Amino acid sequence: MPEIDTSKPHPARMYDYYLGGKNHFAADRETAEKGLAGWRSGRVAARENRAFLGRAVRFLAAEAGIRQFLDIGTGLPTTGNVHEVAQAVAPSSRVVYADNDPLVLAHARALLTSSPEGRTAYIHADLREPQSILSDPAVLAVLDFSQPVALMLVAVLHFVPDEFKPAQVIATLTGALAPGSYLVASHITGEHDPEGPATGARAYRAAGLPAQLRDSGQFARLAFSGLDLVPPGVTLVSEWRPHGDGPRPTPAEVSWYGGVGRIP
Ligand SMILES: C[S@@+](CC[C@H](N)C(=O)[O-])C[C@H]1O[C@@H](n2cnc3c(N)ncnc32)[C@H](O)[C@@H]1O
Repeated sequence: MPEIDTSKPHPARMYDYYLGGKNHFAADRETAEKGLAGWRSGRVAARENRAFLGRAVRFLAAEAGIRQFLDIGTGLPTTGNVHEVAQAVAPSSRVVYADNDPLVLAHARALLTSSPEGRTAYIHADLREPQSILSDPAVLAVLDFSQPVALMLVAVLHFVPDEFKPAQVIATLTGALAPGSYLVASHITGEHDPEGPATGARAYRAAGLPAQLRDSGQFARLAFSGLDLVPPGVTLVSEWRPHGDGPRPTPAEVSWYGGVGRIP
């Protein structure tokens, strides 16, 4: 079991703090509050991202017929975990979760509550080492790579700055997927509010956490080059197939892009 260092902030615990969860420590709250001081709608944005994740999984299970999911950068268990959403539609859905925060590993039991017809697994892994994810025995035991898989990189690519070669990481992962597989991704941007998200990113970097904002073009090229984008394409997460026509936060408040692409 990797050691849990509560003296340093971790993105999973900070995200849990934004979402109103209970699994965070003083260091996480302190860094999160520094970011929120500049990006006042950060909590709204996190909730919109989480809702996007739920709608995307539901779309994949209900409309695209996907039954296998590889969710990298899972976050701490919360409501609407991927297997819960997918198995509510198709109980036989199989989900592998992967995260590099030891606290997520410590809480992984809450992600292993599969329906009897399906299966879930959790691996402690780093997105920046995609080959080790693809060859992990737990991944190979649960997912059949000859059949379509939905790769989920939701709210994790902004933790992979360019020096870690995220395009190569994504190419390695998508290269292992069968035609008809999907990629779901979301990403924080400074395009609609040049101050707020940048303050957040600075707070992460000052705490030693890698962070990079990208605009819609950079995000679309990074995540979806060579893929067929599912309508409506790359949009603010709040605008991706929203439920109902109630009021939604402004683009500046959301500052978070999302999209779903199909591997031809
Ligand atoms: C903001 S949370 C997103 C959680 C969930 N995907 C969602 O969108 O609701 C980002 C997660 O990515 C994880 N993460 C960050 N960098 C990572 C890396 N290099 N490899 C694996 N996980 C990473 C963090 O530990 C955290 O749990």
